Amino acid sequence: MLKLAHLSDPHLGPLPNPKLIQLFSKRILGYLNWWQHRSKNMGGNHLEQLVADMQDQTPDHVAITGDLVNIALPLEIIGARTWLEGVGSPEHVTVVPGNHDAYVPGALKKARDAWLPYMSADNGLAADHPDEASFPFVRRRKNIALVGVSTARATGPWFATGRVGSKQSRALRDTLKELGDEGLFRVVMIHHPPFPKATNWHKRLSDASRVRAMIKRVGAELVLHGHTHIDSFKEIEGPNGPVPVIGVPSATSAPGGKKPAARYNIFEIDGSARNWNVQMTERGFTGSDSQIEKIRSRDLSGFYKS
Ligand SMILES: [Fe+2]
Ligand SMILES: [Fe+2]
Repeated sequence: MLKLAHLSDPHLGPLPNPKLIQLFSKRILGYLNWWQHRSKNMGGNHLEQLVADMQDQTPDHVAITGDLVNIALPLEIIGARTWLEGVGSPEHVTVVPGNHDAYVPGALKKARDAWLPYMSADNGLAADHPDEASFPFVRRRKNIALVGVSTARATGPWFATGRVGSKQSRALRDTLKELGDEGLFRVVMIHHPPFPKATNWHKRLSDASRVRAMIKRVGAELVLHGHTHIDSFKEIEGPNGPVPVIGVPSATSAPGGKKPAARYNIFEIDGSARNWNVQMTERGFTGSDSQIEKIRSRDLSGFYKS
């Protein structure tokens, strides 16, 4: 059995200021401590509470589906690395980038460099780009394959779109096919949701139909996404039946706002090819009293009985 936690869109903040830059130049206590201090001043530390609660569940692995930062300032990206180290080691945490991590041209390269141990394949880096993360990448934990996809790219003002692209899509197709032939439980991590009408037009995954067509052909067992900041449970077509596509609210979302409060999901995955048992549990804030509790459980096993 593998216990996989999923959280997304922490949007670590607020933005660094010159005072913080000086702090960074003096010592590497990091953005996280500063953020905690600021959070206490603001009277809330929902992200810290959420991560602590998640760690209490002792997941074997944590999947984080992007938007770690806001406008991808270099210090935000470095701070996010410090935050990641607080969540867990690269062996236990896998990250894919979101649109905010690629906010301006050049930002994604910095994020890739800073978060590389969390965004790279088990078998190392691509031969043609030895210093860069490449997508899709694959990490195997027991008989589960985590497949990291990047939809992050710099866009114009007021746009938050994402794109997999034809080259990555072809590689993803081949990768999913191979992993499926091996009988692994394939978890696709992707920031932008690929199901129809998932977002407003200016926030959409522009080649979502291509992603759906590819998954319909080669399959996946589970698609995890962020970006919408809401809890959602959808299905897209797979070769042998529907594939669950699951989104989670932002990990920093305060209770009482427009969007659902901070939450994470736990997937307990057991079994073997074509006969998986998967239990999903949602945990997060439900009211304004800053308590984290179990919100609901779902048995997903029906998706995997042939
Ligand atoms: Fe986001
Ligand atoms: Fe996003």
